[in-house]
Amino acid sequence: MFALPLTEDVELRPLDPWRAEEFLANLDRAREHIQPWVASSFVATDLPSARAVLQRYADRWASDSGGIWGLWWRGTLVGGVMFVSFDATLGVCEVGCWVEPAAQGRGIVAPAVRRIIDWAVRERGIQRVEWRTSADNTRSKALAGRLGLRLDGTLRQLYPGPRGRIDLEVWSVLADEWLAAPTGSSPTVH
Ligand SMILES: CC(C)(COP(=O)(O)OP(=O)(O)OC[C@H]1O[C@@H](n2cnc3c(N)ncnc32)[C@H](O)[C@@H]1OP(=O)(O)O)[C@@H](O)C(=O)NCCC(=O)NCCS
Repeated sequence: MFALPLTEDVELRPLDPWRAEEFLANLDRAREHIQPWVASSFVATDLPSARAVLQRYADRWASDSGGIWGLWWRGTLVGGVMFVSFDATLGVCEVGCWVEPAAQGRGIVAPAVRRIIDWAVRERGIQRVEWRTSADNTRSKALAGRLGLRLDGTLRQLYPGPRGRIDLEVWSVLADEWLAAPTGSSPTVH
């Protein structure tokens, strides 16, 4: 019902539980590509588990502790952005994102992330936005850097992964930095 046009071809919309079928289709196209980088609990394999993922985010949105939005590219759900966590009292949130291979490298994720960070900082008073990524995730780190986040540090060998233990990088941007930066000052997209 509500959609935010990001470009001529791309819209950001709430990714509600009733969208589970579209979400599962997106995950089926994205599965191999995102599996190494996102929580396994996110990569649903059937309709009930897809609905459960979206319901968890809907519950977080209702309790002001997270949220998820989808990216529709020419009418197809191709990825999205989320608050993995959101704590307005502490003033801290964590942002995440994904996109299926056909829509990667088109510059459509960055404006969506920019939009939700802008909302968190400007409307909700969030002071610190975090981005947590495997140290091997070159594209994720490139995106964080383009958005103006910077590396706080690395939690070394934090948990086991398919190719050995994962070094997790924590990136962040603070409200003052976001508001001072040209990229943070406007949700304008390319
Ligand atoms: C991380 C991820 C979302 C980044 O997607 P992305 O498409 O690279 O992100 P952006 O929206 O910033 O797009 C930038 C790319 O679009 C290109 N691009 C094309 N047209 C563009 C435009 N008009 N404006 C900006 N960039 C554009 C850029 O050159 C860049 O591609 P390049 O790195 O090959 O040069 C994606 O790689 C992904 O889903 N990975 C798997 C899941 C994951 O790791 N999630 C994050 C967990 S922390």
